[in-house]
Amino acid sequence: MNRRHFFTQTALGAATAAQAQIAIPDVSEPAPLVITPPVVMAPRTDGVEIVWGIARHARGWVELKRDGEVRRIGGTGYGFSTQGDKALRVRLEGLTAGTKHTYRIVTEAMDEPAAREESAWREFRTLDAAAAQTRFAVWNDTHVNNATISQLDAKTPTGVDFLLWNGDICNDWHKDETLVPTLLHPAGTDFTAQRPLHFVWGNHDLRGAYGYRLPDYVAAPEGRSYYAFRSGPVAFVCLNTGEDKADDHPSFKGRVACEPLRREQAAWLRSHVLKTPELRDAPYRVVFCHIPLRWTDENVEGRTYDSFSGRSRDVWHDALVEWGAQLIVSGHMHEHAWMEGTKERPYAQLVGGGPKPETATFMEGEADRDRLRFIVRDLSGAVLHQRDFNPLATI
Ligand SMILES: [Fe+2]
Ligand SMILES: [Fe+2]
Repeated sequence: MNRRHFFTQTALGAATAAQAQIAIPDVSEPAPLVITPPVVMAPRTDGVEIVWGIARHARGWVELKRDGEVRRIGGTGYGFSTQGDKALRVRLEGLTAGTKHTYRIVTEAMDEPAAREESAWREFRTLDAAAAQTRFAVWNDTHVNNATISQLDAKTPTGVDFLLWNGDICNDWHKDETLVPTLLHPAGTDFTAQRPLHFVWGNHDLRGAYGYRLPDYVAAPEGRSYYAFRSGPVAFVCLNTGEDKADDHPSFKGRVACEPLRREQAAWLRSHVLKTPELRDAPYRVVFCHIPLRWTDENVEGRTYDSFSGRSRDVWHDALVEWGAQLIVSGHMHEHAWMEGTKERPYAQLVGGGPKPETATFMEGEADRDRLRFIVRDLSGAVLHQRDFNPLATI
């Protein structure tokens, strides 16, 4: 509902204020209630989570077209409607794998002025663990460089099974109001319209006084920053390498607790990844983590233990080798790089570029029964790396 405000104005604008006054509508509209596109996050075989930014206290829900009907999905386990004052998020469950679903978001203000906004009908596709193929894309280290993000959005393939945003989306969270636009509306793009988003945490995403609030807006398949999923013939393990120094480093001001989280992930690699058949036995095995676990020369000054994540490798290496990880895909170094697997470090390491347009990269991945292929491109589309991997097991 739009409230019209009326005011008086002189007729035809040429006469004086003494002339007859008429009432005309104020052409200014109320500020929008919804301030970002719906962002489709954390795709799973049975659903996704949809998150969108709002300007003030509102409630909302997702309407899903299914079997000729429209289902309304929202509400909490505590008996409240889905509400927030900066963002709303609705988790969809029980959907069919590998299927396109049509939805829209509906948002209503909870206080004056009244407002109701409905998005256009949109689509997302759930993941399919049993598919013969998968396609995906990877970004990293955008650091709020809007020129880079706009070009990444324009040039990265659409229609992929997921987009993996591999950390360092910000330049530290110094202001609360930067969280929603940086994550949900980067460079004003509708970047998940045809690419559901998996988010992997970078060290900068942990920084700043307001970093601890980012999980309010990041959906993850299991509600935490590390997770694993299968898409077609590939098992993907997403890990949080945390900060790039010890937790008690004074620059962190007591804000981080990455060391226990690394150990927790090591235990989970053994208890979950190595024990779940669709992950353990997948034809291809890929890890996404923001900070690489290896570097080209680990003795060069500035590129030693805390530059790559020596702290993570110390606790994850054995489980990753036991799993048969073929490739670690990272960012963080702000220069693209490729390292073959070695006898000592059997997993290959691929690293994407930096935040400036001249150093930025995006990755395209695809896999079928014969091979897994990674291509790294710069923003002109030129191929910087192309690598193929043979399956470890048959489909
Ligand atoms: Fe970075
Ligand atoms: Fe980083």
